[in-house]
Amino acid sequence: MVEIGVLISGGGSNLQAIIDEIGKGDIRGRISLIISNKEDAYGLIRGKNVGIESIFIDPKKFPGMEEYNLELVKEFKKRNVDLIVLAGYLKILSKEFIDYYRNKIINIHPSLIPSFCGDGFYGLKVHQAVIENGCKVTGATVHFVDEGTDTGPIILQKSLEVKDDDTAQTLQKRVLEIEHEILPKAVRLFCEKRIEIQDSRTRISEVVI
Ligand code: GRF
Repeated sequence: MVEIGVLISGGGSNLQAIIDEIGKGDIRGRISLIISNKEDAYGLIRGKNVGIESIFIDPKKFPGMEEYNLELVKEFKKRNVDLIVLAGYLKILSKEFIDYYRNKIINIHPSLIPSFCGDGFYGLKVHQAVIENGCKVTGATVHFVDEGTDTGPIILQKSLEVKDDDTAQTLQKRVLEIEHEILPKAVRLFCEKRIEIQDSRTRISEVVI
C-alpha cells in the first residue's frame, strides 16, 4: 500500500477525483495527509469529509520557502509518504523537496506539455493562450516534477478538440474533466509500480509488478 501525500492550494476537484477512485478500491494506495498553503482551500474540507488528515501550513510562519518546504517534507516523512501529488498546488517546490522525493512527485497541468506550460501559464491563462493561438486541440498532462516548471517526464496525456465557439472558460471546464480522468489513473499506475523512467521519458508496463 503506497502512502500518498497531496498538496493543494484551492478547490481540490482533482484531489476529489483521486479520493473517489481510491474509494472504488482500484488504487493500491491511500491518502495519508493533505496539506494546503491556503487556509480557505476547499480541498481541505473535501479531505476532512472523508476522514483524511487535512492541514493548513502557513508559509508566512517560516523565514523563507526553503524552511517551509522542509516542514512539508517533515510532515510527509512522519507519515511514511512515498508519493506526492500536486493537485492544484500553486507554489514552487524547493530543490531539497524535489531531491528528497525524486521521481515520486506528480503534477497535473491543463495543457498538452510542452505547449502552454512553464512560468505564467496557470489557470485561465493557459486556455486563453490556446484560443488566441487558434489551436485545434488541447488537453491535459500528468508529469513527474523536476527542478523546472512543467518540465519533468510526461506520464499521461489526453487531448480534446477546441470548438469554434469555445471560450477560455468552456475549455477550462472540459479540460478539467480530462484531468479528473488522467490524474487518478497516473496515481494508480504509480502505486502498481508500472511507470519506468528512461532518459527523461516514461514507459508504462503492461504487467502489474
Ligand atoms: C487544475 O486545472 C490543475 O490542472 C491546475 O490547477 C487546477 C486545480 O484545480 N494545476 P482543482 O483545485 O483540482 O479543482
